[in-house]
Amino acid sequence: EKGNFEHYMLKEIFEQPTTIFDCMRGRLMANKGLVKVGGIREYVDQLANAKRIIIIACGTSLHAGMVAKYLFEEVCRVTVEVEYASEFRYRNPVIRDGDVVIAISQSGETADTLVAIEKAKEMGAIILGICNVVGSSIPRTSHAGAYTHAGAEIGVASTKAFTAQLTVLYLIALQIAKEKGTMENERFRRILNELDSIPKKVQKILDNSYIAQSLASLYLDAKSMIYLGRGYNFPIALEGALKMKEISYIHAEGYPAAEMKHGPIALIDDEMPVMFIATKDATYEKIVSNIQEVKARKGKVIAIVTEGDDAVKNLADHVIEIPEVDEILTPLLSVIPLQLFAYYTGVLRGCNVDQPRNLAKSVTVE
Ligand code: M6R
Repeated sequence: EKGNFEHYMLKEIFEQPTTIFDCMRGRLMANKGLVKVGGIREYVDQLANAKRIIIIACGTSLHAGMVAKYLFEEVCRVTVEVEYASEFRYRNPVIRDGDVVIAISQSGETADTLVAIEKAKEMGAIILGICNVVGSSIPRTSHAGAYTHAGAEIGVASTKAFTAQLTVLYLIALQIAKEKGTMENERFRRILNELDSIPKKVQKILDNSYIAQSLASLYLDAKSMIYLGRGYNFPIALEGALKMKEISYIHAEGYPAAEMKHGPIALIDDEMPVMFIATKDATYEKIVSNIQEVKARKGKVIAIVTEGDDAVKNLADHVIEIPEVDEILTPLLSVIPLQLFAYYTGVLRGCNVDQPRNLAKSVTVE
């Protein structure tokens, strides 16, 4: 039921403080310094000793996997590859002893992802599934895994399932980091506490949803948009652009910000909105200079910034503030305004946001 919301997509966006909380329930005990994902219990050793983790998914779920690459490499010191399921299944991939495959899928029924893990399983990999729909095909095919517990997602655009996927990936990464001793204890405890306070921070962003709404009314006639981010927020740039394409039919592309000067910069003129994710993190200074490059070409800059940021505020045409959080957790916050921006743009353009043309909720054919 949509309740008071006009669309399922909006309802699901607003459910995120609850769904992220539900996803951590019984798994994260920040005050005790404990994190345990029950579903992977029997595979903790394999994960901790994995030589390589291969993440397989499609669409939004692939973007969650891309964030996980940055995360697992940083906190667990393990090599991670992320691959489109549709490419993996038709290649002749190399699977070695000790490789662990993680499949991410909201529906658990995406045909390409399912066939890809069947193939990896035959080749001897251990398969872990991160899925939302309980009892669906991917969890049944996996050796083990963890559910995202986001509840039914009706809107075709994935929103709350995405943040729940990220949450599970954070929990698993932290558990494995603890197991391996790859994370300094103080940082570990701090991140657990910060993860614990994410639902509150997401709520704060939602309380200011009118900002994304008013920006949508300014840019609803754009022909095209560019989304740029670096590091942990590069996959979020891709996700923001995917949401915009699906929901509003505005052409939008995401890139790592530094790639701009290798091509996309040619598109920038005074009509091109460029969405930057410019939170205060390791790449902040670099992003600021990318913003200057866009402004020098008269592009319109919208930037997602950390609360209290002044430098970007002075440069950008508009900013959307998000609460401060450790860099590795920013994707859980930075994606929220992008979901809202896509949603309101779609609504203002008269699109069927819950059921965009040509799309199905789960892609069970290849
Ligand atoms: O059910 P899955 O997570 O396997 O689905 C994967 C994609 O089809 C899905 O994320 C799609 O890209 C969404 N429409 C994105 O909003």
